[in-house]
Amino acid sequence: MGRLICLSNRIPTGANPSGGLVVALGDVLTETGGIWIGTSGEIAKRPGTKLREIEGGPFKRLCFDLTEQEQENYYAGYSNSVLWPLFHGRADLMEIHQEYLSSYKQVNRRLAKMVAAMIEPEDRIWVHDFHLLPLAYELRVLGIQNLIGFFLHTPFPGPTSMQALPNGREICQWLANYDLIGLQAERDVRACLASMVEIGGASDLGNGFVHLSPRQSRIAAFPIGIDAREFTELAEREIEKLPPGILKPERRLVIGVDRLDYSKGVPQRFRAFGEFLERHEDWHRFVSLLQISPPTREGVQAYDDIREETEHLSGRINGQFADIQWAPIRFINRPVPREVLAGLYRASDVALVTPLMDGMNLVAKEFVAAQDPRDPGVLILSQFAGAAEQMTEALLVNPHDTEQMATTMITALMMSHSERRERHAALMKGLDRHDVHWWSNAFLTSLG
Ligand code: G6P
Repeated sequence: MGRLICLSNRIPTGANPSGGLVVALGDVLTETGGIWIGTSGEIAKRPGTKLREIEGGPFKRLCFDLTEQEQENYYAGYSNSVLWPLFHGRADLMEIHQEYLSSYKQVNRRLAKMVAAMIEPEDRIWVHDFHLLPLAYELRVLGIQNLIGFFLHTPFPGPTSMQALPNGREICQWLANYDLIGLQAERDVRACLASMVEIGGASDLGNGFVHLSPRQSRIAAFPIGIDAREFTELAEREIEKLPPGILKPERRLVIGVDRLDYSKGVPQRFRAFGEFLERHEDWHRFVSLLQISPPTREGVQAYDDIREETEHLSGRINGQFADIQWAPIRFINRPVPREVLAGLYRASDVALVTPLMDGMNLVAKEFVAAQDPRDPGVLILSQFAGAAEQMTEALLVNPHDTEQMATTMITALMMSHSERRERHAALMKGLDRHDVHWWSNAFLTSLG
């Protein structure tokens, strides 16, 4: 069997890289003598033409630097100010500039050249996420005939959204160069098929197969999972290490954890929590919301705006309801280590995972895995997270409907012990069956 060559914008760094994807792909990479390739996170003066090895770690990693301009135009620009908003139903936030698109293509072309120079005939190539959509196209131009798979970690836009993008047709043509296009949810498969046909001009061959000359590709859902058992054990250990005083026996803890991104619905969540407090004075002092939202993609206007909006809202709600012993919202704008999060999830009574649009959302899965099965907390989950297709035993909500979210908070806080246990057991069964190893196996088996 040939090597697995994995590509993503961000390469896992550090001597002991961790995180979902590393867990999923680490084993296959190690077994096949595979390689992970991505940007280094460092800025170079000139675009380099050679990949550089990162020492250490369980598998081989090769990286390259972006220039400052590429960071601005390829990463912050086309990837995060055009594709990200479009793919999350926010075409209104797109910033269309010619230099964004040309830099995006250039970075992908440069990467393709560096990859083509080291590829062997038996290698399988697995490209990840929206930063690298044109990579297969660029590799094919260079004569690479290897199997190439693509997995999109975000939602996929349907034809109506795709029409808002001046080069929507080109995106479909890029995708048609992959042998397999993996998506998070069935909703994305439907949207992708429709866009490939209506915008790209592909023919639908049935069973997820499309033909766009000169190639046939397969489109299918591979919902990403987690290593649930590992996370349960981590949470069991870490809850013991939480500093005293975090938990008050008389107070219920509601938790939210998201990058500070407009797709995550944090303002709506804060408003819903405000409505809940407005309507239920008896709960004042007995419940608090811990929202952990590290800033992300700073410097992109829409991210600066969401920070201001959420700071303003949490300040207003705290100003309105807090007293000398209690503040309803604790809003943390710093990253919190994964193990501390695991402990906090286990200590929480309710999780609010209420994105307006999300590829999968692994916070939902990690929260469930972190619970004590004898006394588990309750997951409130947006119907617009990819995870909602699998996690039907969560309390599903429409994040735009703040009244419904406020009512659901009461349902969660008052839920009987037996119902909590039943829902948790059912959710855990799903997490075990479709864990992260299932995900990578299913994708790679399907790729061939
Ligand atoms: C999402 C994307 C990933 C990305 C991550 C963090 O999950 O699907 O590709 O790495 O957000 O965003 P950042 O821009 O910081 O890499």
